[in-house]
Amino acid sequence: MAKELDISTLGVRAGTVRSDFNEHSEALFLTSSFVFENAAAAAAGFGDPGAGAGYVYSRYTNPTVSMLQDRLAALEGGEACIATASGMSAILATSMVLLKAGDHVVCSNAVFGATVQLYSTLLTKFGIETTFVAPSKLDDWQRAVKSTTKLLFLETPSNPLGEVADIAALAAIAKKAGAALVVDNVFCTPILQRPLALGADLVVHSATKHLDGQGRVLGGAIVGRKGPVLDGLQAFLRTAGPTLAPFNAWVILKGLETLEIRMLAQSERALQIAQWLEKHPKVSRVFYTGLESHPQHALAKKQQLAGGAVVSFEVKGGKDEAWKVIDSTKLISITGNLGDVRSTITHPATTTHGRLKPEARAAAGIKDGLVRLAVGLESVEDLKQDLSHGLGPG
Ligand SMILES: Cc1ncc(COP(=O)(O)O)c(C=O)c1O
Repeated sequence: MAKELDISTLGVRAGTVRSDFNEHSEALFLTSSFVFENAAAAAAGFGDPGAGAGYVYSRYTNPTVSMLQDRLAALEGGEACIATASGMSAILATSMVLLKAGDHVVCSNAVFGATVQLYSTLLTKFGIETTFVAPSKLDDWQRAVKSTTKLLFLETPSNPLGEVADIAALAAIAKKAGAALVVDNVFCTPILQRPLALGADLVVHSATKHLDGQGRVLGGAIVGRKGPVLDGLQAFLRTAGPTLAPFNAWVILKGLETLEIRMLAQSERALQIAQWLEKHPKVSRVFYTGLESHPQHALAKKQQLAGGAVVSFEVKGGKDEAWKVIDSTKLISITGNLGDVRSTITHPATTTHGRLKPEARAAAGIKDGLVRLAVGLESVEDLKQDLSHGLGPG
């Protein structure tokens, strides 16, 4: 039997379909609809919302979007993928397909803020209740599960503190409960972590982050096995419309071609910066799963190939000193986004976690001195120098 293709090859080759023009680079099909030979072909197309009987309308799907879906499914080791307009629409679509009124969700308490809002407010209007638990505390997940639990949802490592959840153990809890385990794989991407192989039912992505990798477009995706859930997601897009635009799909498809080398290079730079910060006299604590001192380093090594690009650290002196580090940078971009080849820096307590009450922020471990750095592709020496403007030399 032929050997399966390596992930490097899948990133640049999987999913490519050539048109009759034999273009080398994937074509961008910038069209809202498709034409038919005759009325019977149109009827067949409308009867089959996938691409089986030909493409119909780009709210259902589009050849450029299909190429991206097939490439991402191959990278995640899934059978199928549905691309969406953003990461949040991927999480919303997943919830709409898996859940109904009366169902219960167990969600990590260290997920993206809009995900917390979705489960704690929006979905409660439709009779869906959520219990939030610490991602690494398996007993808490187990205790939170009820007879109505249909979904376990998490990110690992968590943002910004890099708490690691044991995906295989959570998959066992979900399976026993008859619930789906959904992992948001934004921080690792399939290059560093493949949750489906560890037993997750679905992986969701904000393609806006590393998959694009250059801060250009919004996008999202859900990857899993072929079957009723993926069919339900396709039908949800057709009916509700949070579909990925072909142009964005094309940009992200090009991003996937360099995903492996970017993730490995950014993780290597992040590790070197984390090691430097760990010895810095002005830094009291560094949060990075790639550091041997990380309390869950062994688990991270088991399920991740490397630590990823995000390093968080506490500056001695609280908010004023943390702001000084941020404001003294000349190179690093001050922005809440991450997953870009340009390094970004933010102060979680007053930005990403600024809407939380002080008690909730303290419970989440977000201190006033905490700084989150998402490392890009600049040189390690230039990044250290930029951080040294506010921190002082290491
Ligand atoms: C881990 C994670 N999941 C989901 C999202 C939402 O993605 P989007 O902004 O593409 O809707 C984000 C955005 O920052 C994120 O960081």
